[in-house]
Amino acid sequence: MNPLPIHDPLINKDHTQAASFGNLVDTFGRIHNNLRISVTDRCNLRCVYCMPEDVQFLDSKELLSFEEITAFVKIAVSRGVNKVRLTGGEPLLRRDLSTLVGFLSQIKEIKDLSLTTNGMLLKSQAVALKQAGLNRITISLDTLLPDRFKDLCKRDGLEQTLEGIDAGINAGFQSIKLNTVCINGINDDEVVTLAKFAREKQIEIRFIEYMPIGANPWEKAKVMVAHEILEKIDKEVGPLVPATNYDPMAPAMEFVYEDGKGKVGIIASVSKPFCQSCNRIRITAEGKLRNCLFALEEIDIRPFLRPEVDEKSILTMLETSVISKWAGHQFNTKEFIKPLRTMHAIGG
Ligand code: 5AD
Ligand code: SF4
Repeated sequence: MNPLPIHDPLINKDHTQAASFGNLVDTFGRIHNNLRISVTDRCNLRCVYCMPEDVQFLDSKELLSFEEITAFVKIAVSRGVNKVRLTGGEPLLRRDLSTLVGFLSQIKEIKDLSLTTNGMLLKSQAVALKQAGLNRITISLDTLLPDRFKDLCKRDGLEQTLEGIDAGINAGFQSIKLNTVCINGINDDEVVTLAKFAREKQIEIRFIEYMPIGANPWEKAKVMVAHEILEKIDKEVGPLVPATNYDPMAPAMEFVYEDGKGKVGIIASVSKPFCQSCNRIRITAEGKLRNCLFALEEIDIRPFLRPEVDEKSILTMLETSVISKWAGHQFNTKEFIKPLRTMHAIGG
C-alpha cells in the first residue's frame, strides 16, 4: 500500500456542534472534556527524551492531596469534563494511588478513567487499580532490548515493565495500550519488533512522534515520522487499513491490520499536529492548570480549592484558562518557544 492514507482526524467532524451552555469551549470552538492529572513529578526511570538525570523533584508536601484533586474534578465535571487520565512522572509512585482512583470512579459523570504508566510497578498494583474502578491503562514501551532500555531510560527495568504489561492484561481492564516514542538513531530499528510484540499480545500499540519537550536537545532529524512508521509496519508486519470506528477527537490516527488481528495508532504530533481538535486541559502535580502541553502560562488552582472559596470563582478560573488557549503549538515555526517544564513535570 503506497502511500498509506493518513486520514485527517477532523474529517466529517464539526467539533463545535456539540457545544452547549456549560461546556468549556475556547475561542476556536474546541470543547474541553478531557482532563489529565499529574499525581507526582517523580519517576523511577530517567528517559532521556523526558527528564534530566539530576532532576529536582517537588517535596511531597507540595503535591495536591487526593481530596483536592477530587474536589477539582467534581467541579470540572459540572462543565462537561468526562474523561480523566492520571499521569506523572510515574503515577504508580504516588502512595495509595488506588485510593484516588476509588474517589474518582465514584464521580458518575466520568465516562473514562485511565492511567499512563511506565509499567514498572504495575505488577503489584494492577488488581487494586482495576478493583478501584480504573478503566484503561497506557504503558510506555520504547524498546525490547535490555541494554537499550538502560541506555534510553538510564535504569534497568525492561523485565519489570514486561511483567507489568502482562499483569495489566491479566487484570482485565477495558483496554491496555502501549505507547512508543520513536527516535531516529535510537529505536527506529525496533518499530517492526514492537508492532509484532503488541500484535502477539493482542493489544494496541501507539507510536508517538518525538516532541521538543524533553531535557535533551531536540532535532527534527531525530523525529521518525508517522508515514515512515506506518509504511514499515504495513510492509513488514502486515497490511494496514484505516480504522473506521476511531474517536475523531483522539490524537491518534488508528489503523487495523487487514486480517483483523490488531491495531496500530500513530500520534503525529510533529508532522501532523492535532491541535485543531485538542480537547485537553491538564493539572500538574502541584496544582498548576495548563491549557496546553506547551503552554507558557499556568494558573495555580490550590488557592481556589480552599473551603472558603465558592464554586463560581473556580469555574471562572477554569473558563478563563480555556478561553485564553492558543490555536496550537508552533513546533514547525521559528515562533516555537519550549516551555520551561519538561514532560515529567507537566504530565504526559
Ligand atoms: N516526545 C514524545 N513523547 C514523549 N513522552 C515523554 N516525552 C516525550 C517526548 N519528548 C511520552 C512518554 C510516555 C508519555 C507519558 O509521554 O513516552 O508514553
Ligand atoms: Fe519517567 Fe515516563 Fe519520563 Fe520515562 S517518559 S522518565 S518513564 S515520566
